Amino acid sequence: MTKTLFSIALCGLLAISHGVQALTIGFSQVGSESGWRTTFSESVKAEAIKRGIDLKFSDAQQKQENQIKAIRSFIAQRVDAIIVAPVVETGWKPVFMEAKRARIPIVILDRNVALNNDSLYLTRIAPDFVLEGVKAATWLADETKGNCAIVELQGTVGSSAALGRMEGFNKIIAQHNNMRIVRSQTAEFTRAKGKEVMESLLKAEGGGSDICALWAHNDEMALGAIQAIKEAGLKPGSDILVVSVDAVDDIFPAIKAGDANVTVELSPHLGGPAFDVIEAYLKGKRDFEKWVVMGGSVFDKNNYEEEYNKRLAEQ
Ligand code: AHR
Repeated sequence: MTKTLFSIALCGLLAISHGVQALTIGFSQVGSESGWRTTFSESVKAEAIKRGIDLKFSDAQQKQENQIKAIRSFIAQRVDAIIVAPVVETGWKPVFMEAKRARIPIVILDRNVALNNDSLYLTRIAPDFVLEGVKAATWLADETKGNCAIVELQGTVGSSAALGRMEGFNKIIAQHNNMRIVRSQTAEFTRAKGKEVMESLLKAEGGGSDICALWAHNDEMALGAIQAIKEAGLKPGSDILVVSVDAVDDIFPAIKAGDANVTVELSPHLGGPAFDVIEAYLKGKRDFEKWVVMGGSVFDKNNYEEEYNKRLAEQ
């Protein structure tokens, strides 16, 4: 038996010996497209073990249809609650209604869903994606004094993370006559696509010497793009500024090396607050804020060190 399974079994036994029935919670996760997502999944699993929760984890591999299947299977198994980190915004109403009819509460983590009925879920625990875009663009506008030709790597099409970040970023650059996005394409939040798409954007822009900055909707795509910029004979971080979101562990060495310039932090530790809400609901609480906003810092060469050292010490 692995250490993890042993811990789960031990927690379950402890719960039973105290006469407490362990909670069973289904968690439909987007996938494992980024370092941020992987840390998020690990953090939810670790928190479940700590609390003696029987977590049924399902990786949707970036497909909404897999998430819908997983939610239906959680309903059929009569879980106590369901956590969903939705891949895209639209298309959730029917399956959320099925959960409601089965009296199984849903908590949304991270990306949003487009619903006109907020009684279909207890709460959403997530950052403000629009604000993340605002923070990224504000940093870039300050750094370039409002003069910058930008290429953009978008996240997953139709995801609220991509839509919100675009909205916030565009709102700020619209205030500067000489800031504009010259090319924009999705790289689906992955490092491999980030590299591939950046290669083609650099070619389309005549090699990239007129590009002032890359705005990537996450660090993972930025890290792939940094590779592409280097292979094109340019210096990421100075020839092309690199601006992204997440503050994953891997971006800190890149900031230290001067390859990446700034990242907007997004906390992956969403499991604890989600389980708190579910436990409170099961004890009878009913009035929940519909959006619990998770904040985050902005890290660049002036302030990354303390956070980087903290992460290194935790490893
Ligand atoms: O929805 C949040 C985004 O999804 C993260 O920024 C990205 O890394 C991820 O995969």
